[in-house]
Amino acid sequence: MPEHTVMPAIAVHGLTKAFRTYKKQPGFRGAVRGLFRREYEQTLAAREVSFKVEEGELVGFLGPNGAGKTTTLKMLAGLLYPTSGTANVLGYVPWERADGYRRQFALLLGQKNQLWWDLPARESLELNAKIYGIERKVFEATVTELTELLDVKDKLNVMVRELSLGERMKMELTAALLHQPKVLFLDEPTIGLDVVSQKKVREFLRHHNATRKTTILLTSHYMTDIQELCQRVIIIDHGTIFFDGKLTEVIDRFADFKLVTIECDPGAECPAAALAKYGEVVERAPGTVKLKVKRDRVVPVCKALFDTLPVRDIDIQEVPIEDIIRELFARKGG
Ligand SMILES: Nc1ncnc2c1ncn2[C@@H]1O[C@H](COP(=O)(O)OP(=O)(O)O)[C@@H](O)[C@H]1O
Ligand SMILES: [Mg+2]
Repeated sequence: MPEHTVMPAIAVHGLTKAFRTYKKQPGFRGAVRGLFRREYEQTLAAREVSFKVEEGELVGFLGPNGAGKTTTLKMLAGLLYPTSGTANVLGYVPWERADGYRRQFALLLGQKNQLWWDLPARESLELNAKIYGIERKVFEATVTELTELLDVKDKLNVMVRELSLGERMKMELTAALLHQPKVLFLDEPTIGLDVVSQKKVREFLRHHNATRKTTILLTSHYMTDIQELCQRVIIIDHGTIFFDGKLTEVIDRFADFKLVTIECDPGAECPAAALAKYGEVVERAPGTVKLKVKRDRVVPVCKALFDTLPVRDIDIQEVPIEDIIRELFARKGG
């Protein structure tokens, strides 16, 4: 290996996971038949997934429901064996489950409770600390720091099952970070949280990534999370990655429209019928109209608008990334 080569923190190549589930036959006869001969169906949850993440990067992993995000993260956390392909995280093959690897990464599943339900949060954290063999002093300092940052220090003595969803998620995050992992797999860490908690978790993650240089792979259905935290996104659908690049490039690749706002002379009429042929009217207020215009039609449409209507001003904008991704997933039937 050349002297100064820096290994990526995560390197995935051709990772594939096939799940085999058996098809239920309809009705009683089907059920009886199924006892003798089961018909299997195969789901390719991940197909030839390849990507690299450099140390300290915070990458958004996006895709509609059932796209294969959780499956991929579970393979990277060593919870699932792949059907084929390779992965290397910090020099480890995740599913070999080396003790050294366990101490360097964390997986947070927002949809699943990983803490002990019937214990006060603090005791649940203490059990986690024991599993990782964390020294008392280090444990105390880490818990204080994390719970202060996350604003749940005063909830440490509350039973986990009595915490609000937001408080519980913050404790889950604290538990996940107790052993100071270098790589974080965060699967919907803000799901279902109120807006204030979402913001808190977001700020915490940004701070953690910036100060600790932790490598983070994050999934979220909230585009605010992605927009505020990730410069790079990997988009997956039906197990296949179809975009890996800058979030800002998503617009170039997938935005079919631009937003054209025209301002008309006061008192002049801007008849809806005359506008409809240029694009969909998305907003209308006295004197102004906002139209969604096909990207390749923007120049001729603006020209036509100037020529045919009493237009005073025109403003052209990109469709918000959030809308583009939402539409992208809707189109892909997510
Ligand atoms: N344990 C499993 N057994 C069978 N199929 C599964 C299992 N886990 C996930 N799948 C299927 O794999 C696909 C990807 O699921 P998942 O990785 O959970 O998607 P995402 O996290 O992107 O919503 C889905 O079609 C899902 O139904
Ligand atoms: Mg999932």
